[in-house]
Amino acid sequence: MARTPILAANWKMNMLRAEAASFCEQLRGLNEADRAPADRVSADRVEVLVFPSFPLLDTVAAGLAGGVASVGGQDVHPKASGAHTGDVSAAQLVDAGCSWVLCGHSERRRDHGESDEWIGLKVKAAQEAGLIPLVCVGETREERSQGQTLDVLKRQVTAALDGSSGSFELAYEPVWAIGTGETATPEMAQEAHAFLRRLLGDMLGAERASQVRILYGGSAKPENVDELYAENDIDGFLVGGASLDSEKFSAMMRSCARSAP
Ligand code: 13P
Repeated sequence: MARTPILAANWKMNMLRAEAASFCEQLRGLNEADRAPADRVSADRVEVLVFPSFPLLDTVAAGLAGGVASVGGQDVHPKASGAHTGDVSAAQLVDAGCSWVLCGHSERRRDHGESDEWIGLKVKAAQEAGLIPLVCVGETREERSQGQTLDVLKRQVTAALDGSSGSFELAYEPVWAIGTGETATPEMAQEAHAFLRRLLGDMLGAERASQVRILYGGSAKPENVDELYAENDIDGFLVGGASLDSEKFSAMMRSCARSAP
């Protein structure tokens, strides 16, 4: 099954508006007609997503308009509106130009105590508002060392998709590889991705499971994307640190576009 790869930038709590605008300018340049064809990255070869923090959404939505890349929020509250200071609703994200949202990133689970069930509510709220949730799952170092990786992934995915009816994509982000410079080997990542696809097959049927893009995240960078992307069930990347540098991110876009089916 040929799946168009996704390359997603999760900027986390980084960047100011001027930096964000300049990054978008660089990305726009990648499609310009005066570039050599081999250096151009067209949207039908790789789907590019940018997840900036909330105050940057306007700048990034304007900077990436015209099909350069899609924009997403880094989080969403399950409720449609109301007394939830500091939170953002799905409708507000749509209104700000988002078509995607991250749900269940391990930094939200860790810093804000988000439970699997709470993440499931976010996924549903996002889908109801027409956003595509990019659902993040992954085990900690301790869970891996105790042989619990697959159980953790099953628990997280089952809860996140409980009652879900719309589109979604998945990101496997082993917590021990996030921001550490330590990357899962292609074999380790493929084992987790293949398990996730089998699990989706049990939940949704084989055909639907074969369409879901499962991204790898955790110290993904220009130097390691080729070998990871060569694995059967790795359909792109959710990139933190390397996504803050437009040169590195562009190089990763070109890698995915070159190897895309
Ligand atoms: P790093 O690429 O910085 O390891 O972050 C990965 C991540 O958490 C993306 O969501």
